[in-house]
Amino acid sequence: MSKTWTPDSWRSKPIVQVPDYPDLEAVKSVEGRLATYPPLVFAGEARRLRAQLARVAEGNGFLLQGGDCAEAFAEHHPDNIRDFFRVFLQMAAVLTYAAASPVVKVGRIAGQFAKPRSSSTETVDGVELPSYRGDIINDIDFTESSRFPDPHRMEMAYRQSAATLNLLRAFAQGGFANLDHVHQWTLDFLKGSPQGDRYKELAHRISEAMDFMRACGVDPGETEALRSTDFFTSHEALLLGYEEAFTRTDSITGDYYATSGHMLWIGDRTRQIDHAHVEFFRGIENPVGLKCGPSLEPDDLLRLIDVLNPDNEAGRLTLITRFGADKVFDYLPGLVKAVKAEGKKVIWSCDPMHGNVIKASNGYKTRPFDRILKEVESFFAVHLTEGTYAGGVHVEMTGKNVTECTGGAHAITEDDLSDRYHTACDPRLNADQALELSFLIADNIKKQRASRNGENNGKLAIA
Ligand code: PEP
Ligand code: CO
Repeated sequence: MSKTWTPDSWRSKPIVQVPDYPDLEAVKSVEGRLATYPPLVFAGEARRLRAQLARVAEGNGFLLQGGDCAEAFAEHHPDNIRDFFRVFLQMAAVLTYAAASPVVKVGRIAGQFAKPRSSSTETVDGVELPSYRGDIINDIDFTESSRFPDPHRMEMAYRQSAATLNLLRAFAQGGFANLDHVHQWTLDFLKGSPQGDRYKELAHRISEAMDFMRACGVDPGETEALRSTDFFTSHEALLLGYEEAFTRTDSITGDYYATSGHMLWIGDRTRQIDHAHVEFFRGIENPVGLKCGPSLEPDDLLRLIDVLNPDNEAGRLTLITRFGADKVFDYLPGLVKAVKAEGKKVIWSCDPMHGNVIKASNGYKTRPFDRILKEVESFFAVHLTEGTYAGGVHVEMTGKNVTECTGGAHAITEDDLSDRYHTACDPRLNADQALELSFLIADNIKKQRASRNGENNGKLAIA
């Protein structure tokens, strides 16, 4: 691996999962324009997130990362952003209150457009066309012209990201996220549902705590930590031409930062150590994620860690594991043992979605909710056994009342999937399922803390 790095050094490496643009001149000219556009985030924010993640890596706090599998141009509506943000805040409230843990909030949003695919073409009724690769590249309609990769879509994705981020910033800082509004985040369709009721009870207890603080003379409206929240953005940095255009030098430190989002991650299909994606990621100073699936060997993970986090800094690297509910005990312990033995500072986060996709008998791609819960529980169990810290989850979810994952309190069946199946890519948790999952995570965080405290006390007693 060469020492010199430039925002375009990835171009001399092998690369997979890239679109076949027919007009390379047009690509060059769009990328040239993007490079002159304002950044979406700035370096100081990415550093702030890195500092928060460093605390998580050290066992203080929990990373909640979630959003759509793929954002879509057709879904760009303020209500969708608001509803997503509401559910996300509810999940965070459950984790913060029920598990008494600080929560670092990172959306898969405002840039999550490019998708890796298992096959580069799709065949329907004997017609073969390029696969859909996300709205930043081509269109989901199954026609030849729609499936052509069009570089101008990069500018549309940029503008949608900017507008989405603008609203999210307003929500996070402008009063919507004020903990005094904890009751108002509940979506109408959640009212009266089992998870909605459970949340209501929790919100009630939070309100009481706020009233107590008010009685003590603390005004939540005047207290920054209660009145607003830090909310960060993230996406899979798959389309490297786009990412390169938004890679800028920070005027304060002189370092390179990707300014398309606060945190970027490398997908499970593009983490080859000598390939373009790893090359790009090693040179940016943002906090980064690495998806770890069943094909990742412990030794290869250690080599990747050395490239991506050579100074072994806590907060730089989050390992997002995604094996499938039945495979966690086969693969996770090996990775955890290797990383622990080498003293590598990472956050372990669980993606319980991508290893649990099945095809329903009626053809829909779905994820059984009980498998999602099982992957999360197994993830916590492994870390408990190994004495490592389960520090986060990474989920695909939406604020819309969709029927994409089977199961949950409403017991969505395979026959129900066709009712409200709206995803442009993978099936997402609906609000009800997302809340149920949060309560389960909160229980596991509590258990984890009790066990760690027990260990510490034990050590003290022996000393
Ligand atoms: C994703 O997060 O949408 C994704 C494609 O994940 P993975 O790289 O883990 O398959
Ligand atoms: Co996905």
